[in-house]
Amino acid sequence: MNNIAQLEKDLLAAIGSAKDEAALEAVRVAALGKSGSVSALLKTLGSMTPDERKVQGPAINGLKDRVGVAIAAAKDSLAAQALDARLTSETVDVTLPVREPPTETGRVHPISQVIDELTAIFADMGFAVAEGPDIETDDYNFTKLNFPEGHPAREMHDTFYFPPKADGSRLLLRTHTSPVQVRTMLTQKPPIRVICPGRTYRSDSDQTHTPMFHQVEGLVIDKGSHLGHLKWILEEFCKAFFEVDSVKMRFRPSFFPFTEPSMEVDIQCKRDKGEIRFGEGEDWLEILGCGMVHPNVLRNCGLDPDEYQGFAWGVGIDRIAMLKYGMNDLRAFFEADVRWLSHYGFRPLDFPTLAGGLSA
Ligand code: DAH
Repeated sequence: MNNIAQLEKDLLAAIGSAKDEAALEAVRVAALGKSGSVSALLKTLGSMTPDERKVQGPAINGLKDRVGVAIAAAKDSLAAQALDARLTSETVDVTLPVREPPTETGRVHPISQVIDELTAIFADMGFAVAEGPDIETDDYNFTKLNFPEGHPAREMHDTFYFPPKADGSRLLLRTHTSPVQVRTMLTQKPPIRVICPGRTYRSDSDQTHTPMFHQVEGLVIDKGSHLGHLKWILEEFCKAFFEVDSVKMRFRPSFFPFTEPSMEVDIQCKRDKGEIRFGEGEDWLEILGCGMVHPNVLRNCGLDPDEYQGFAWGVGIDRIAMLKYGMNDLRAFFEADVRWLSHYGFRPLDFPTLAGGLSA
């Protein structure tokens, strides 16, 4: 066997035994590449006599063509094999459970849930939602609400103040949602029916107090709004919110600078091994403050107390959320622990409505 025939045999054997496309490529480079064995043979043609070239030319070129064809065929077959292997290894098992999308695993924080519940309940009674800024003026947070300068009730609020401005006035973090009452009366004409949920701040921290917490304020102003309306609204609210058929409420006299008369409201409940149930029992639990809007407040907000009257109330949202959903440490609300949230949170697509059920 001459050189060419031997080389062809070796190359075809190497092509045949290449296991993958990379190995095949190595054979191709070793044969047909710039310094490959077939290329080296082709280079010898230049130094041959014309007679030799007549014989060797077709032989070497024939070798080159056959090796090329064999490589191309092997390449096709290796590519087909690789595809087959991928098709078998990458099959999708359609019987596997689908991975849960974010709408399934994400949870709505109980505070957001309760705000949505409150909004649904009061919207059903014709209330709009009003909002105000967390950073307030002393005037809106206190003075217009009939807390005169130096009044001891100001001290009870543990206020976070900003540094004084050049004119001596100080901004503050609102200590309650009541300044939104002021903003609403200053910008809307009665009849007014709003709730104002939002963040509030006081320098206080323990199991049931955090420096930032949430309140919802209610305000009704009209010509004939009276305490009877207030009692009915609060009773309907408590029944809807705690999802019970009846609640017993107790109105105790109290004091707030911005209401006269002022009351605190307790609801009847049953305490049973740390669990609280509403609509039954002999215990009382304080849940909110309320009263008829003080004539000074109406006047401070540009309304004539001889023409308009109304009532307001304020509820701690965190507190009623804890009562309704059985959570006992307020601080956990704000620790952003995803384990707590996945336990106490709500499914995002179960939006609370009165018709569909608030928390179901
Ligand atoms: N602003 C009061 C507080 O933070 C709560 C409150 C009580 C609001 C009585 C009212 C009200 O509107 O009438 O303690």
